Amino acid sequence: MTTYKLAVAGGGSTYTPGIIRSLMDRLEDLPLSEIRFYDIDGERQSKVVVAAKAVIAEYTDTIQVVETTDPKTAFEDVDFVFAQMRVGKYAMRELDEKIPLSHNVVGQETCGPGGLAYGLRTIFPMVELVDYVDQYAKKNAWIVNYSNPASIVAEGVRKLRPHARIINICDMPVATMRNMAAILGVNREDLVVDYFGLNHFGWFTKVEVDGVDRLPELREHVYQHGLLTEDVSKIDYRHADSSWIKTFKNIKLIMDHFPEYLPNPYLQYYLFPDYIVQTSNKEYTRANEVMDGREKTLFETVRKYEETGILEDAFAVGVHGTFIVDVTISLAQNLGRRYLVMVENNGTIPNLPADAMIEVPALITSSGPIPEHVGEIPYFYKAMIDQQLASEKILVEAITEGSYIKALQAFTLNKTIPSAKVAKSVLDDLIKANKDYWPTLS
Ligand code: NAD
Ligand code: LMR
Repeated sequence: MTTYKLAVAGGGSTYTPGIIRSLMDRLEDLPLSEIRFYDIDGERQSKVVVAAKAVIAEYTDTIQVVETTDPKTAFEDVDFVFAQMRVGKYAMRELDEKIPLSHNVVGQETCGPGGLAYGLRTIFPMVELVDYVDQYAKKNAWIVNYSNPASIVAEGVRKLRPHARIINICDMPVATMRNMAAILGVNREDLVVDYFGLNHFGWFTKVEVDGVDRLPELREHVYQHGLLTEDVSKIDYRHADSSWIKTFKNIKLIMDHFPEYLPNPYLQYYLFPDYIVQTSNKEYTRANEVMDGREKTLFETVRKYEETGILEDAFAVGVHGTFIVDVTISLAQNLGRRYLVMVENNGTIPNLPADAMIEVPALITSSGPIPEHVGEIPYFYKAMIDQQLASEKILVEAITEGSYIKALQAFTLNKTIPSAKVAKSVLDDLIKANKDYWPTLS
């Protein structure tokens, strides 16, 4: 039996124990001999690994667990790397959200200026990870990447390391499908969807169950309730916080204006930035909600476990854990299963640039994702995507060239920012806040 060695980069992530549970639930499909946890913050990682080891111990004692801050120890001879790094951690996420909001601009970790700031912090560390894996891991090793902002990370790696064996994924489409399935009273696995866009910037154009189009029914439901069931307990912990409930309700706002397709929830930030700012609490953002919620619960659970030996079940797997493991099993076993992932366009959507990193259905094989042809998309969606793509591509040029003007262009083109004047003020404040992370822009 083939067994695999898997490394988790960003081992100190709040998602680690849940992802480990998901891996343990699927050991028959993805047998593991070793799991290596790698993080640049060894202290944080050590606490999280206590929980991860406790989860593993519930299933098996045959997996060797290694915890390290040394790249060679982490990646030597591994088959898979799960990447989930938050460069700058929650302290910087809070600034990504609060600095734009102080200028009355959307404050969000992946959309708008916050996402651009997070992107400027993350591109080089991701490229460094790609290089470590290239240097130490097996030649056919795959990186499966969750690190955000995924669109910008995907573009940065495409440009700087075009031959990297990396597949960039996001749990938002699959989480949106989880809600669709709950509304329709079917299993998520029974949905057959079509989708196009960029990461956090796309639309479901088809939702079928057993060959029957269920989008009209979903549309009717969304008109009344947003993309939520009345019983929100059907939504796993990952999206049960009040900010997420609000976000799924806002699908109604989007579809009241544009009923044709079912949008990715993150489109609320681009289509209704003024409304989002008006309804945001500038003093208490999503970063605070996560620090007071998921992150605090994780470290409390670890503390209690160390005191009592009892591991409270705070790590429900949810779609986040399930999805990365599903994709990896399809990669490992060459199953060719169909998932929504990020790929280089190359004609999949002929009226978008060939070198755009788009998010579309693809068959996941051991040689990588094979996208399904989508065809031309209507002008409205193309125009929106072109603008966002330009913002992200110019941002990557800004960091590779160290160009302030290009950074300003990227901010100005972002649909969440009303003018070049505001773009400059926000950028200048973010430069000060990110002085320990960004290269000099001149
Ligand atoms: P977290 O802050 O709890 O954990 C991130 C870890 O990454 C920290 O332990 C940190 O020390 C580590 N890290 C930072 N820079 C690193 C580097 N250069 N090398 C190795 N480790 C590094 O964050 P989280 O909330 O658990 O999120 C983890 C990641 O997953 C983030 O990038 C987040 O944006 C992303 N995420 C993606 C999706 C998606 O669907 N794509 C969904 C949720 C979260
Ligand atoms: C997180 O999990 O914190 C984010 O990456 C997405 C969210 O829930 O805000």
